[in-house]
Amino acid sequence: MHSGLFKNNLNANTRICSASPYFCVLKQQNNILAVTGSDLSVAKEFLIKGELVAIPTETVYGLAGNALNEKAVLSIFEVKNRPAFDPLIIHTDSLKKVAIYVSDVPEKARILAEKLWPGPLTLLLPKKDIVPDLVTSGLDTVAVRIPDHALTRELLAQLSFPLAAPSANPFGYISPTKPAHVEQQLGDRIPYILDGGECEVGIESTIVGFENDETIVYRLGGLDINEIESLIGPVALMPHSTSDPKAPGMLKSHYAPRKPLHLYRRDAITPGDAGTGYLLFDRYLDGVDRRYQRLLSPGHDLKEAAHNLFAYLRELDGLPVSEIKAELVPASGLGLAINDRLQRASVPA
Ligand code: TXA
Ligand code: MG
Repeated sequence: MHSGLFKNNLNANTRICSASPYFCVLKQQNNILAVTGSDLSVAKEFLIKGELVAIPTETVYGLAGNALNEKAVLSIFEVKNRPAFDPLIIHTDSLKKVAIYVSDVPEKARILAEKLWPGPLTLLLPKKDIVPDLVTSGLDTVAVRIPDHALTRELLAQLSFPLAAPSANPFGYISPTKPAHVEQQLGDRIPYILDGGECEVGIESTIVGFENDETIVYRLGGLDINEIESLIGPVALMPHSTSDPKAPGMLKSHYAPRKPLHLYRRDAITPGDAGTGYLLFDRYLDGVDRRYQRLLSPGHDLKEAAHNLFAYLRELDGLPVSEIKAELVPASGLGLAINDRLQRASVPA
């Protein structure tokens, strides 16, 4: 059985260099790959033992562990190679359970939670002591979300603890939207990938916090901010920073392919050398081999574009090209979040 091989979070095959501000983990030496399956009882068993499981959500796949178990949380940071100053989102399945982990729900947050959960929305709320400081990187707010994925909600309903789950990719790389994406990158680090198919939304949740009377969007995401504004009035957008611990969700360079990514408006995109891949919105570029082009949405639909964004970026990254040229999509609704991801993916780490 797999579980014995992944007995604890800091096993003999994992080495940590504590001198670095990042948890620097050397690749595990046992080349045993995660099992991919849709068996909730297997996922549950690993999680109860403090091990990590990749879980499907409607946004992207998450790398999940028991949020109340510090060892499990530490191993999330290690497996992702994620800096300790970047806090995690906790996932649960009901408003009643959310109340166990947060000390206050402002009126506007309550309205959003009641109307938009389950869904691609994360709320920053004051944390109770039960949530380890490791989860929130020492902040006094905790990020909470009820995901809209039947399999994962059933799993959450069966657990007596919430799941801390960042996107299941190595820190800084493109988020996974299919089980195979997780297997390719973290398959030798975790025992189980819970297969819930392709993620419907395709980009991460919209993160919203509350300060005094202001509503602040910390990260644009799969929930259109127009929907938020129609319920609670105007919101303010938090600007990006490189590594400001007060706004850890706003790292400038993120979601990046390994190949350099350059952004263009449609009318400024020109065919480059043979070694160029193209991520386009709705129309192919004339004079370029179509094997090197991906259309986010032939039907000009931003939802479809968001759904395809990360998968196509990965595909282009895997082609024999030396650079990727991407077209910015129309800057409204979900297009704002798509362009945000493209912009951050284009900033060198
Ligand atoms: O859709 C999603 O949100 C996915 C799925 C798996 O739920 N999760 C996800 O997690 O995108 P992650 O860790 O990749 O991104 C969470 C972001 C991070 O940028 C983190 O800095 C920010 O949320 N964050 C978490 N807690 C925070 C807090 N208390 N204050 C400000 N930002 C916070
Ligand atoms: Mg992420």
